[in-house]
Amino acid sequence: MKPFPKNFYWGAGSSAFQVEGDIENMDWAKAAREKRVPEIGIACDHYNRYEADFDIIKELGHNAHRFSIEWARIEPEEGKFDEKEIEHYRAVLRALRARNIEPFVTLWHFTLPLWFSESGGFERKDAQEVFARYCRFVVEQLGDLCTHYSTINEALPYTSNGYRRGTWPPFRQWPGIGAVGVPSYDNMLDAKATVSWRNIGAYFRVLRRLAAAHNRAYDAIKQVHPHADVSIVHHVLLFHSDHKLLNLLKAWFMNWHWTHQHMRRVYRHCDSIGLNYYMHRKFGDTKTYEKTDMGWDVYPEGIYDALLMLQRYKKPLFVSEAGVADDDDDMRPDYIRRQIEGVWRAIESGVDVRGHMYWSLMDNYELAQGYRKRFGLVEIDYDTLERKIRPSAWVYKSIIENNGVTE
Ligand code: BGC
Repeated sequence: MKPFPKNFYWGAGSSAFQVEGDIENMDWAKAAREKRVPEIGIACDHYNRYEADFDIIKELGHNAHRFSIEWARIEPEEGKFDEKEIEHYRAVLRALRARNIEPFVTLWHFTLPLWFSESGGFERKDAQEVFARYCRFVVEQLGDLCTHYSTINEALPYTSNGYRRGTWPPFRQWPGIGAVGVPSYDNMLDAKATVSWRNIGAYFRVLRRLAAAHNRAYDAIKQVHPHADVSIVHHVLLFHSDHKLLNLLKAWFMNWHWTHQHMRRVYRHCDSIGLNYYMHRKFGDTKTYEKTDMGWDVYPEGIYDALLMLQRYKKPLFVSEAGVADDDDDMRPDYIRRQIEGVWRAIESGVDVRGHMYWSLMDNYELAQGYRKRFGLVEIDYDTLERKIRPSAWVYKSIIENNGVTE
């Protein structure tokens, strides 16, 4: 038996635009209308079906749930907040509380209100104030129902796909990257990226501004809710290597750029840190790995190294996302077990990990890959919107019930 600490949070995650449906006034929806990313539409209609979805979470034994608030719903026009939408998220939080499920709210998960993206998004000089004002408002309104808030989900993938590869809004690409199309159901969509040397500067500016936005939001949240637990969610892309000096240096440099450069800017303004882990890159590796449906190496045990990498910031950690795209659910049970064993090993080595949220609760809009990649513990039939619990969800449930993986 590999037991986890008492009161460990076990759950799964989702994000607003990937599951809610019908959000038209934000940048990804606009990009979908322009056929630069796959259509989003009604998604899983989670906006209307959250009660039933939370019944499933309960049935699956989770005691925590991570979800995000859609900025474009809350602030449809600059500086104007929509009370009705706040009421919606209050109802969502009450629905979780009624089931004894601890909410982990992410304030921003990739999508920008149109007024913000069209006025420059995180390139705006005042982006940090604008973002902090939104965060402050939300926490002021929801503070009595929720303690855990993450400000920003994954600064690096956002910036890397939006300002370097040009596959996500705002579709900016560095010269030399080549035409990167985004997959749709039948063919490759033309993301119509803008290629310019200037995007290199924009990439680094946006990264800095996201860090500043987090820091500013942290202070603003603490003013209205001093006891809130405020975190940033960081995607550790794990770089490692064989023992050749050049490969060691490459891995060191990439970890510095992808993780430490960003974390050093924000960790002082964090009560805890969320880790998203999916991928590794081992320089000098000749091994062939089994692949997930995303084409990523099956290497769940890398979560151990990812947690150790974040340990140096001396904050409580929680796994905010980790999981696998696996349409037929044949690799997911084992993947989950190995992933959780990795978390357990990290705890055994002294890392303070407080929770684990599998990504994701249900199949959803997988960003530029649309609906065909399936990460869910719960399968969605996109024609009928019927939910079907996958076998792996029961495996996860038994781990939760045992508070750890049994040998
Ligand atoms: C993102 C999710 C996404 C998942 C799988 C994470 O980087 O936060 O929104 O669905 O990866 O690609």
